[in-house]
Amino acid sequence: MKRIITYGTFDLLHYGHINLLKRAKAKGDYLVVGLSTDNFNTKKGKTSYFTYEERKKLLEAIRYVDLVIPEDNWEQKTKDIVDYNIDCFVIGDDWLNKFDDLKNHCEVEYLDRTPEISTTKIKKELKLT
Ligand code: CTP
Repeated sequence: MKRIITYGTFDLLHYGHINLLKRAKAKGDYLVVGLSTDNFNTKKGKTSYFTYEERKKLLEAIRYVDLVIPEDNWEQKTKDIVDYNIDCFVIGDDWLNKFDDLKNHCEVEYLDRTPEISTTKIKKELKLT
């Protein structure tokens, strides 16, 4: 069983997120999503429209997602990789090379982002920001 992990805020879930999760799951058999908590978003200077619990329920309803865990800081990834027996870390290429240090612990793959969609764009176009 090959186990994959990815991280993100996944606010106002959109088709770019679904594409990322589908391709992440296709890399293996079991997909863990580290979902940024509201507290961590504040630290990152982000405010999500949906709360952590709302975003978690949405992700849990997606067929590609097997487990959602909280992401509360930048440093937890190595521990998560060990605790959840992860073989491969994946994330969109907006983070290209940012997590190369994790290659000491598992495979690291950067996936192409889906063009022309983001939570920021949705918020802007609906004038939520
Ligand atoms: N992602 C993607 N394609 C998009 C948007 C996001 O592949 N068009 C990926 C990101 O690269 C990341 C994951 O989805 O691996 C979660 O990204 P997140 O930052 O939560 O979504 P964004 O829409 O990029 O949100 P924001 O505009 O707030 O940065």
